[in-house]
Amino acid sequence: MLPVTAVANPNIAFIKYWGNRNEALRLPANGSISMNLEGLETRTTVQFDTLLPADNIKINGKLAGGKAHARVSMLLDEVRALACIRQFAWVVSENNFPTGTGIASSASAFAALTLAAATAAGLEASPCEKDATRSRRPDVLPGGPCLDLAALSRLARHGSGSACRSIPGGFVEWTAGTDDANSYAVSIAPPEHWDLANCIALISTDHKSTGSTEGHTLAGTSPLQSARVDDAQRRLDICRHAILNRDFTAFAEIVEADSNLMHAVMMTSRPPLFYWQPATLAVMQAVRTARTKGLPVCYTIDAGPNVHVICTGAAAEETTKLVRSIPGVREVRLAKVGGPARLVENPSTTPDEI
Ligand code: DP6
Repeated sequence: MLPVTAVANPNIAFIKYWGNRNEALRLPANGSISMNLEGLETRTTVQFDTLLPADNIKINGKLAGGKAHARVSMLLDEVRALACIRQFAWVVSENNFPTGTGIASSASAFAALTLAAATAAGLEASPCEKDATRSRRPDVLPGGPCLDLAALSRLARHGSGSACRSIPGGFVEWTAGTDDANSYAVSIAPPEHWDLANCIALISTDHKSTGSTEGHTLAGTSPLQSARVDDAQRRLDICRHAILNRDFTAFAEIVEADSNLMHAVMMTSRPPLFYWQPATLAVMQAVRTARTKGLPVCYTIDAGPNVHVICTGAAAEETTKLVRSIPGVREVRLAKVGGPARLVENPSTTPDEI
């Protein structure tokens, strides 16, 4: 069987996923809304091989073992079951941005893995419904069952919740759903719908001490989590409406409120989680001040100290300059709105390299 390469962008959530109703299936406590981040990407190549005694997984140049290996193999097991194959796989995955620092690397990693593995296993997989026929590869077991966008997004969710949002393109909503079958993400608007940019203030690239997976299990220990979840539908409706109407004022208010609510839950969990550093707060304050002076800009923060400063494309240059000038900000990465997870036609990784 031939190697297949897929690329996916991470995404930044405007309405956050924090806490699961079902940890094993990653059924979220509430729905979420995000945008994909163009330019930041995970590139993953998968090749199933009858001669392999176990999955061989290389992530950013290092052989994966332990939990990381088990998490990837679990997703490959699901793909094998769907495709009715038994072969283990070679997996090579590379990110072009720092991992474990509040830029959702597990989102792009599991989205790219899902698409590459499903296609390499002979499943007809496409994150873009209209591309379903184009993505069929005659060299990989033609005629296998078809995985549509919803099925791919559900599968990616099993690997990492936020990964289900990196399968479709542009602005994306993950509906919490009632069970495994109907909890997946769809695009609510394509990338070109609204020219937004994310100026990511990198404050630290150290690996965070408590990852999201562990953090989700603590969410319910905060007395604030039930209030956050009960109010989620209201925030989702406001955010979706603001995106569809390109209403930056309404968007900025709800995005910051949602991020603050999630961090309030984090800080009041047992044990509490403090992801912010002094420079994180400095950026938040500078962003709010700039907005009162008319710059269309707002902040949101994931499970790390880095701040995602969202602005209109027209304000990206001024925003980058502002964020760069704040003491404690080491670097600024700019990302516009990204597309869906996609297959790479002429992968640079050859079977020899894999
Ligand atoms: C704070 O999707 O990384 O970024 O399902 O355990 O992989 P796992 O968690 P993950 O959680 C993301 C949490 C967040 C908010 C968000 O992206 O919605």
